[in-house]
Amino acid sequence: MDQVHPLQAIQSAIGTAGGDPRPLQRTSLFNNANDGPAAIISKASGVQAGGKREDDGPYFTNNEGIPFPDPAHSKTVGGLPLVSDTFLLQKQQHFNRSKNLERMVHPCGSGAFGYFETTADVSDLTKVLTIIKANFLSGKGVKTPIFMRFSTVTLGREFPDLARNPRGFAIKFYTGEGNYDIVGLNWPVFFCRDPIQGPDVIRSQSRSPKNFLLDYNSLFDLLALTPEANHAGMMFFSDHGTPNGWRHNHGYGCHTFKWVNKEGKFVYIKYHFLAKHGQKQFTADEATKLSGEDPDYSKRELWEAMERGEEVEWVAKIQIMQPEEADANLLGFDPFDVTKVWPRDQFPMHEFGKLVLNKNPENFHRDVEQAAFSPGSMVPGIEDSPDPLLQFRMFFYRDAQYHRIGVNLHQVPVNYPFMSSSFSSLNFDGATRNDANHAGNPQYTPNSFKHKFRPDTAEAPYTVADNIVSRKSHYHHEGKLSDYDQARELYTRVMTPEQREHLHANTADLLRRVTAKVIKVGYLAQLWNIDPGYARAIYELLPSAAKSGEEGFEFVEVQNKAKGAEVARKEAKFRPSKAEERLVGFCPQTNVYNM
Ligand code: HEM
Repeated sequence: MDQVHPLQAIQSAIGTAGGDPRPLQRTSLFNNANDGPAAIISKASGVQAGGKREDDGPYFTNNEGIPFPDPAHSKTVGGLPLVSDTFLLQKQQHFNRSKNLERMVHPCGSGAFGYFETTADVSDLTKVLTIIKANFLSGKGVKTPIFMRFSTVTLGREFPDLARNPRGFAIKFYTGEGNYDIVGLNWPVFFCRDPIQGPDVIRSQSRSPKNFLLDYNSLFDLLALTPEANHAGMMFFSDHGTPNGWRHNHGYGCHTFKWVNKEGKFVYIKYHFLAKHGQKQFTADEATKLSGEDPDYSKRELWEAMERGEEVEWVAKIQIMQPEEADANLLGFDPFDVTKVWPRDQFPMHEFGKLVLNKNPENFHRDVEQAAFSPGSMVPGIEDSPDPLLQFRMFFYRDAQYHRIGVNLHQVPVNYPFMSSSFSSLNFDGATRNDANHAGNPQYTPNSFKHKFRPDTAEAPYTVADNIVSRKSHYHHEGKLSDYDQARELYTRVMTPEQREHLHANTADLLRRVTAKVIKVGYLAQLWNIDPGYARAIYELLPSAAKSGEEGFEFVEVQNKAKGAEVARKEAKFRPSKAEERLVGFCPQTNVYNM
């Protein structure tokens, strides 16, 4: 090969003519290395043309750009490899380090780019929000680029996609005031509501620490001892736990959030994203069979739809609650409890936009594996609610990602706020920082040179229930039979007879693998409190081996255990006992900020 590098040749040619070779160099070589994250993501997301660049370097190199001599021969002496073979060493060392840490939860997934478009003026919907503060929601027809990732939850990165599990439904909106993440699920409720139980819920659905086998005892034991978990538990064992791919699912924000206007007035909202192409599910048998035939079913299905040029769409809707209504003592249910929904007859749905996916990522590791969604990443105009699980999730997702990816994760293109009207971060340095970093700014504030804060974006004040620090629960239903009301509604009114039949069969098929009687009885006792017929139907389907022998049991034991199952592991000391011990977030009576 001619030893003159093509750029050198170009440089001499253009250089002699007085031209600058760098523009050419920037658009052709270096695997995007001359583009910063904003330029890369604007192309990868489809906002600008020109992504998917193929490698057009004239020859292979190592990471230092030094020509790589040969694919098949190490440098040897007497036929044995030498540590001075830097090509060999770097190849192996880089390989040894090339897997990111798996996400602790939701490791198996894939995603696509697209856009969100408002289809209604939200000020008409919310009544009080004459102009919502969030600029990507202001007016009709406003388009915002998005990236979405779908996932299973508790099973490993390479477990079959069709495993029984909730599905993650995470959306990153690249808005003009920064990246907004909704980190939701394909059903509207979660298994626990106090953040101190989060790792337990996940561990109970993970593999046994003894032998790494799937652990049915732990799965059912936690449900047996957590009354509020059995609303999500019912979804888990129903065919909602084995949806047909990523895209035939509705998505839910699950938590309650605030939408706020410029005067600091707010409403509480819940998000619903309804699959335009319908909700489709597999039966347990179909999912098991397909898991073997095509373990990548959901990833492939989405990928191929995008490659065919199809658009995948969801209709975005909200339920709205005025702050003064948001009081469990008035409503009879807790609007800030993520194990509960808002009844749709009381809080109807209002359409406000659509989500459209239309473009595959360019590189799985760069764009999907390193994507980092955080419930705390909210833009001005969208704020938290007094939901304790949301409050804690707002912190710990970033913590997980600083560990999994690194503190400069914002430099990964998919995480970069490339549509933001400003990027002037006050967080500096850290491993592999490669943007302008301090960019000439002092590394402390306040300082006498640059002062560009945005007091207009301070959060809307709200008052909470009391000012007592303690471990006392503020969940309205805790320890009460009413904790089961919504699950009963789902079981008796929403589910069809066929759906109930599948639920019973799916549950019995897993419950029969539980070896401890105390767990089987305890779990069915929870279901008895939802509906005695629910517990009975599953008991009847259990094979006799699961009901006889040392760990066998009669149904009457379930019935007896059901009395008091609503207080399972809920210490009397910590249960709410006064009317004011409930979660509220009212508008303050007087102005808090100086106007
Ligand atoms: C306290 C209970 C929970 C714990 C401890 C937990 C923990 C985690 C962790 C550690 C991750 C990985 C973050 C990362 O490395 O990027 C994650 C991802 C995720 N979580 Fe949770 N989570 C909890 C509750 C929830 C709830 C209530 C929802 C839905 C409303 C949810 C939805 C998701 C989704 C969708 C992802 C995947 C995001 C992606 O696609 O990258 N989680 N969770």
